[in-house]
Amino acid sequence: YLNYRVPQTRRDIIQTLIKGLQRMEYRGYDSAGVAVDGSGKDHAASISLYKKTGKVKALDEEIYKNNSIDFEAELDTHFGIAHTRWATHGEPSPLNSHPHRSDKNNEFVVIHNGIITNYKELKKYLVSKGYDFESDTDTEVIPKLIKYLYDNRESNYMSFSTLVERVIQQLEGAFALVFKSIHFPGEAIATRRGSPLLIGVRSQYELSTEQIPVQYNCSKCSFLFPLGNSRTDEQEKNALNRRGSTNALHSVHDRLAVEFYFASDASAIIEHTNKVIYLEDDDIAVVVEGKLYVHRIKRTAGEDPVRVIQTLQMELQQIMKGNFKAFMQKEIFEQPESVVNTMRGRICFDSNTVILGGLSDHLKEIKRCRRLIVIGCGTSYHAGVATRQILEELTELPVMVELASDFLDRITPVFRDDVCFFISQSGETADTLMALRYCKQRGALTVGVTNTVGSSICRETNCGVHINAGPEVGVASTKAYTSQFVSLIMFGLMMSEDRLSMQQRRLEIINGLQKLPELIKEVLALDDQIKSIADELHHQRSLLVMGRGYNYATCLEGALKIKEITYMHSEGILAGELKHGPLALIDKHMPVIMVIMRDACYKKCHNALEQVTARQGRPIILCCQDDPEISKMAYKTIELPHTVDCLQGIISVIPLQLISFHLAVLRGYDVDYPRNLAKSVTVE
Ligand code: F6R
Repeated sequence: YLNYRVPQTRRDIIQTLIKGLQRMEYRGYDSAGVAVDGSGKDHAASISLYKKTGKVKALDEEIYKNNSIDFEAELDTHFGIAHTRWATHGEPSPLNSHPHRSDKNNEFVVIHNGIITNYKELKKYLVSKGYDFESDTDTEVIPKLIKYLYDNRESNYMSFSTLVERVIQQLEGAFALVFKSIHFPGEAIATRRGSPLLIGVRSQYELSTEQIPVQYNCSKCSFLFPLGNSRTDEQEKNALNRRGSTNALHSVHDRLAVEFYFASDASAIIEHTNKVIYLEDDDIAVVVEGKLYVHRIKRTAGEDPVRVIQTLQMELQQIMKGNFKAFMQKEIFEQPESVVNTMRGRICFDSNTVILGGLSDHLKEIKRCRRLIVIGCGTSYHAGVATRQILEELTELPVMVELASDFLDRITPVFRDDVCFFISQSGETADTLMALRYCKQRGALTVGVTNTVGSSICRETNCGVHINAGPEVGVASTKAYTSQFVSLIMFGLMMSEDRLSMQQRRLEIINGLQKLPELIKEVLALDDQIKSIADELHHQRSLLVMGRGYNYATCLEGALKIKEITYMHSEGILAGELKHGPLALIDKHMPVIMVIMRDACYKKCHNALEQVTARQGRPIILCCQDDPEISKMAYKTIELPHTVDCLQGIISVIPLQLISFHLAVLRGYDVDYPRNLAKSVTVE
């Protein structure tokens, strides 16, 4: 939040930042932090950092307990930053929370959303240059790198934005970043690549332009790391002059008094302004002397040379969930991105290599093991069921998939040469945690697959994989399932990297993973059709979901989604078991969903379909596009894009997630908070 010639007390500034964080707390809530100018006469000569583990409220309380802060000081111009974190690297702690700093004097401070995948190389380089790191995060390389570039700048003319440009040219991964520095008081720099970032503008004047022209003043800059081919002082001076004179891009009058709000989504700022500019990848937004400039490192063909100031029409509540009715719906629609985040930096599609950094050191030991045991509860257990067959194929090891509670009830024998995987979105599920301790006591190698860094399962396992799906708020798990699925497949691919006989199969799967986000989008586009099916079904009491092979897990997971949020009775049935009992349920009144995809079980599923239709069943069938054979026997079909057999379950579960969502809405239930259930089950 930047106020320029709009006097505010330090209390107001901190309040604006904290309030903004609270509005976005649903994006991450394991720790939070704030950076504002220090107290004292020349307030901009120092930066004060306040950080706290836990919810934003804890940070708020901590700040107001601090007697050294001069809350009543009036600051005419000031720039403060704040962040609420969902850990991806390093457990939740004050040191790991943002803002991160360049050094003990807080010369540069940075907040970051996203993941820096090449942080290890950057860190190694910076450590070799004598920079000390204090956190376990990927983010900390950013303030250290900007300080390194500042300390080694070849000209005093080097602007804050040039430094930031040079930083982001070294970063791989996804980021939305905001920088603050004591060397550039009152200046704000924000940039993004792959993570969202917008700027809200509030002025006492009417905004005089609805468009911010974008500059391309750095097209000649081809800086390489370490310091190489950078611009000369002369070029830098010219760039600064050019920017200052001909491109005065301020959006309001010269007698400027303006406030800028930088945020990852509009929920943080909507109570202050509805005028926003959405930044695009590789945009660098700079506020200097109350004027906003947007520029880019390179011009690419066909690019739009302006950023439009948009007027948001939405209510606050709406924006928190975007245009979605519920967090669950939002999370279903996030899956094209969340699966990419799971794969980011781990799969190299050019060389067909897969590296899960958290497992690398233990790979040899895992390859020598006697068997793999995959343990979880509910949806996380289903991710194990879904990937069991491909793990058996790729690892050539026996794979047991276990419900944590049952595994413990049976006092299952576990040996030193077993490798046990614990799948858990929250990382806190009591049954899974107990099973982990049980296996650990027996000397097995334990591997966590969680969405929550710093969770108990993360901490207590020997090694692990973070699924990087982002916070999941809806109690019904959706995007965590598909990310767990992808993580386990990546593990199989990593294990089979040196098997010559498997290269063709690996290639097929890796290509399939690359296309996954587009296919998920195709399925999400069927939402209206799926809703019309839910319209027909929502008065029913019961709903069966049937399939086999790779899609048995889809049926279990679909039925779980339906029962937990619609309160309808629903059962996932293995089609191979149909004639051993469930067939008795089938008549023309019993709604049945069948999953019949083109894979090795296709023929057998067809037989099950014959048996259902012979009993006047009227199946709704999830099938592949262009399958007239199946379509003619179906009451209704939902046609899905085809992918590799072992990935098909990621595609086919999405219509069932959507159907359960629409059924729950139509039946008038609270989708995100189903009765009797909790997001994190920390009791046995
Ligand atoms: C279903 C659901 C639950 C969880 C289960 C395990 O939608 O969310 O079945 O999957 O309680 O939770 P985690 O994955 O946190 O261990």
